[in-house]
Amino acid sequence: MTHDSHIPGRSGRFSGGKLGHGRELDVAAGSIGVSPEEYPPLPDAVMTDPLAGRLDPRAWFNNPTRRFEIEIGCGKGTFMLNVATENPSTNFLGIEWEGAFFAYTADRVRRAGLENVRMLHADAVEFLKWRCPDAIVNTIHLYYSDPWPKAKHHKNRVVQDKFLEQARRVLIPGGELRIVTDHDDYWQWMETFFDRWTDASTAPGGVALAREAFVPPDWVGEGQVVATNYEKKMCGSTKQPHAAVLRKSG
Ligand SMILES: C[S@@+](CC[C@H](N)C(=O)[O-])C[C@H]1O[C@@H](n2cnc3c(N)ncnc32)[C@H](O)[C@@H]1O
Repeated sequence: MTHDSHIPGRSGRFSGGKLGHGRELDVAAGSIGVSPEEYPPLPDAVMTDPLAGRLDPRAWFNNPTRRFEIEIGCGKGTFMLNVATENPSTNFLGIEWEGAFFAYTADRVRRAGLENVRMLHADAVEFLKWRCPDAIVNTIHLYYSDPWPKAKHHKNRVVQDKFLEQARRVLIPGGELRIVTDHDDYWQWMETFFDRWTDASTAPGGVALAREAFVPPDWVGEGQVVATNYEKKMCGSTKQPHAAVLRKSG
């Protein structure tokens, strides 16, 4: 079990089933998966000092001074494999809270021999808030985040004020938050936040993010945006996803 095992249904163990296609997954912590030693439980001291749990995730890599990017919700890991292969001098931290997907992506990364990827089994929003220091992340990737379509579940959506506040804090000056979704209703919801956060008169703290067009990575195929597993399965050639970049001022 990991320290994030309190998340309902997220035991941290791969329980067998379809994901590995019958193969035994290799998910030993400490090489690809971030170990409990590297990521100890949040200390009680956060009750009085909210910064007491901060740690530097760049130290989890062999070359900690490299450019540092985070992907939130890697799913089956195809984007992570591609982006990390195409950018071997950048360190990538994948954060995935579903144990089976965490294990699956970690296994793929290890089999691909990528030494610039670590996987964290955790809630990415909580990680940013409690663990991540200020101004260390070059890029945050958030692709096909769960839309939580029922109104009573909207509070579970990743994109909301508390997330944008932490994303802006952890990005380096000039760093970017890259978002793609195929869900029209979630996109409309995001746009209301984007409008507020990109106008200095309404952005919390008075510091606006700059909105820019989303340019797909040059390694994706014709008509693709980020070529994740979800995108390939759900969008195909019929649905054009929505996409945006929010940049922190440099
Ligand atoms: C719809 S899937 C998309 C997966 C992948 N990005 C893709 O496009 O194929 C959303 C993923 O985000 C993960 N996820 C959702 N909220 C998360 C959070 N707060 N922290 C970490 N992972 C999260 C889910 O477990 C799931 O794997």
